[in-house]
Amino acid sequence: MLRQSPQKINGNFKGKDIISFDQFSTRDIKNIFSLVPKMRKIALLAKPSKILAGKIIVLLFYEPSSRTFGSFSTAIKQLGGQTVEIHNPQEFSSVAKGETFEDTIRVFEAYSDAIVIRHPQKGTASNAAAVAKFVPIINAGDGTGEHPTQALLDLYTIYEKHEKLDNLVGVLAGDMLNGRTVHSLIRGLSLFKKNTLYLLSPKQLKLSKSDFEDFTKRAIKLVEIEKETDIPKNAHFWYWTRVQKERFKKLKEYEKVKNSFIVTQKLLKKYGNPNLILMHPLPRIYEIEKEVDSDPRAIYLKTEIRNGLYVRMALLKLTLGII
Ligand code: CP
Repeated sequence: MLRQSPQKINGNFKGKDIISFDQFSTRDIKNIFSLVPKMRKIALLAKPSKILAGKIIVLLFYEPSSRTFGSFSTAIKQLGGQTVEIHNPQEFSSVAKGETFEDTIRVFEAYSDAIVIRHPQKGTASNAAAVAKFVPIINAGDGTGEHPTQALLDLYTIYEKHEKLDNLVGVLAGDMLNGRTVHSLIRGLSLFKKNTLYLLSPKQLKLSKSDFEDFTKRAIKLVEIEKETDIPKNAHFWYWTRVQKERFKKLKEYEKVKNSFIVTQKLLKKYGNPNLILMHPLPRIYEIEKEVDSDPRAIYLKTEIRNGLYVRMALLKLTLGII
């Protein structure tokens, strides 16, 4: 398969692929954040803007999605653009007849101004970017690799609450090995100063050796923990994640770890503090009890998902916007 390193944003998003959080600088993140209030207003006024007028964007999703698909689709329409929406191309496109991945990308770039792609295999968004000659590729999640637009919305959500992205203490819990949202969020938080992340997971789901080595070279302190009793009480945020069932070869291996860490009211009371926010990229399966949803600190079904829409609108404006 083809590979290429994605280009740094370096203050200019126009026409660039968005593949990895390694492309972003703190300035790029702030550029996105500065547009969020305007994007929120456009969305809430129910009056589509013309920022993407005349633009057609293909949503090519080889894996299921509610939020990423739904928010990209909505964001494009809110900005006056149009979508070609392909769920499960393995069944509903000529991929089912044996068309190659490369040809599929060439076909859809011929019809569009950008392709937003989700795929079960790590590195596929980068491979798509290597094939596409005319339009940018946006990574909407590549297997166990990355999910850069999720990290943008997660960073915005933390920033909205704490008004800073440095000097933070966070707890990331669940599947560090397979969780692409975690991989992008760690990259994002390591761009800022003096952040400490406690990574709570069973042994089997710790970061891979290569990810751990990569991340520990960055300006961030990572502390791997395996017990709830090691959760620090001064955290600014908890970022709980689902154990990624679809990445396991054997169901019984998943069954062994799926309930390792569950947020209950009792856990929040014991290790939480009044100022933290409880985040989750969703979908939530077992790992946060429903009773926790009404806690004011639980924002995963509230601002976190809404911010996904506004942040993706801002990214689309900078990448493809005509005004
Ligand atoms: N957070 C996230 O990527 O959710 P979806 O899989 O529903 O898009």
